[in-house]
Amino acid sequence: MLKDLNLKKEKADVRRLKDLAAVVYDRQWYAVADKEMPLYWMWRGLKEADGLRYDILQFAEGSLGQELPKTAGHKHSLADDDLSYPELYQVLAGEVIYLLQRKTGTNLEKVVAMPCQAGDFCLVPPNFEHITINLAGEKTFMANWTASANRPDYSDVKLKHGGAYFGLKGSPVSWEKNSNYGEVPPLQFLPPTDLAALGIDIKKDALYNLEHHAAVLNFIKEPQNHNDLWASLF
Ligand SMILES: [Fe+2]
Repeated sequence: MLKDLNLKKEKADVRRLKDLAAVVYDRQWYAVADKEMPLYWMWRGLKEADGLRYDILQFAEGSLGQELPKTAGHKHSLADDDLSYPELYQVLAGEVIYLLQRKTGTNLEKVVAMPCQAGDFCLVPPNFEHITINLAGEKTFMANWTASANRPDYSDVKLKHGGAYFGLKGSPVSWEKNSNYGEVPPLQFLPPTDLAALGIDIKKDALYNLEHHAAVLNFIKEPQNHNDLWASLF
């Protein structure tokens, strides 16, 4: 499927090292690194249907010094009074760990790590900030559906200079607490989201063509109408 899309880097939004300046863990490495170095490319709005948008992101090769490559990290805008927009990710190729964190006020109450390989889904529930950590260099492509009205907000993660944990190189990954947060809860490892178990009828390879079945993804656009789903996640 990736081949058919014919994704051209010159048509993508690129994130460079300078764009992640505030959230890089290894400051010694950052001081001498090329700030123009591309970290990832995003093709936004490859499909749009019924108030939903389909994007793809490809990571670049390389790391952030001692730290594994990652996205900048953000939260989403509100879908109603209490719930921010969720997002449904699928790894198309490669391997990542999704880091999801929820706060009450400024206190972190939950931090989840969800390792995912090609084909796996990660449903980011409302009110979770999230960061993607890459384990497979430029081989990693991931797709997401989110609401067209969703606006990402990078400011809180930036203010804390990253997520609650930094994923450092090692086998297994070494997790370093981010001291810019107060109390940091233990990292809770969870398997990829099992959509079938949640009663969501999406085949492993059908994500791209879901504009024909947009009703299936209503929970992304109107999370306030799907409280049972959010309660059954984590
Ligand atoms: Fe997001």
